Amino acid sequence: MRPIKALVLAGGKGTRLRPITHTSAKQLVPIANKPILFYGLEAIRDAGIVDVGMVVGDTHREIEAAVGDGSSFGLKVTYIRQDAPLGLAHAVMVAGDFMGKEPFVMYLGDNLIMGGISDFVGEFQKNKPNSQILLARVDNPSDFGVAELADGRVVRLEEKPEAPRSNLALVGVYMFDAEIFEAVGSIEPSGRGELEITDAIQYLIDAGRDVRAHEVTGWWKDTGKLDDILEANRMILETIDRDIRGEVDARSRVDGKVVVEEGAVVEGSVLRGPLVIGRDSRIVRSYVGPFTSIYFDVTVQNSEIEHSIILEGSTVSNLGQRMERSLIGKDVEITKSATMPKAYRFMVGDASRIEVP
Ligand code: TTP
Repeated sequence: MRPIKALVLAGGKGTRLRPITHTSAKQLVPIANKPILFYGLEAIRDAGIVDVGMVVGDTHREIEAAVGDGSSFGLKVTYIRQDAPLGLAHAVMVAGDFMGKEPFVMYLGDNLIMGGISDFVGEFQKNKPNSQILLARVDNPSDFGVAELADGRVVRLEEKPEAPRSNLALVGVYMFDAEIFEAVGSIEPSGRGELEITDAIQYLIDAGRDVRAHEVTGWWKDTGKLDDILEANRMILETIDRDIRGEVDARSRVDGKVVVEEGAVVEGSVLRGPLVIGRDSRIVRSYVGPFTSIYFDVTVQNSEIEHSIILEGSTVSNLGQRMERSLIGKDVEITKSATMPKAYRFMVGDASRIEVP
């Protein structure tokens, strides 16, 4: 079988994840202390693919610094600049030269698919349709692109329909042959000003091309929103094994599946897994509860945290109340004021969100 290429989309606007995306790429938010994008790259490698075109936008430097030439994943990564995030079909268009005439798999860089994509890619290579889409049954199809099937073929796609014709939502992985380039070059921008991949696939269907579907069996998540990131973090942490490499003192208690990475220090604290503490982080006189991922160089002191993600370099200290279901960015400081008056004091960036009891 001829090896195929992959197109990974790691640009975009990330409006639903502001303020994190004001300064960082959403695809690099760590889930169980590994950037979301890395799970996708591993799934691509496991499907036997080597050549990857990575579409990048404003955050290209950060993505390039994290992924490099791809060799640490066993991949060969070529970066493709998209000047503006004009839609998924636009991202395909800018990748035209890289793909040439070869079929390829397109993978949205903020998606997590637990069972990988090997079966999906294998089925495409066996049947050789013009396009193949990955679908999952959902309870809220109106929030997704929705597919209508007849005799195993895709006959219609609708983006976030008010009256969905099925509960089959598009998951962020697609297969195309070179026919897709005519489609993305022929469609018009949608109401939100983007070239939609659903419109491009509908163009293929209307032109009588063979578009097939493959249903996801395991769980998957589009991590474009905070709640989905926390849920993905919870799901991945469920699968980890206990591994304590850092220092945990005798006054601390560690229950369940807990990872403490190299150089991390835990003193006088209770860790109740599943959770991960990143390298060189310090947990002092604190409680860290289930479904929490603490990245590297973080300090947590005199505080209680559950079901949250804290990025590198941040400090949480002396919180009077337990913190939960939170995503804390890089180099953030959250602390209790030692002086009167007893008042909240904030220095918060644009589009942040704070909830107080
Ligand atoms: P989306 O999450 O659909 O879009 P977005 O990143 O603009 O986010 P939001 O809706 O919150 O504003 O994008 C899915 C993936 O595709 C994501 O990894 C970003 C990437 N992408 C591109 O690379 N180029 C694009 O033009 C778009 C729209 C998305």
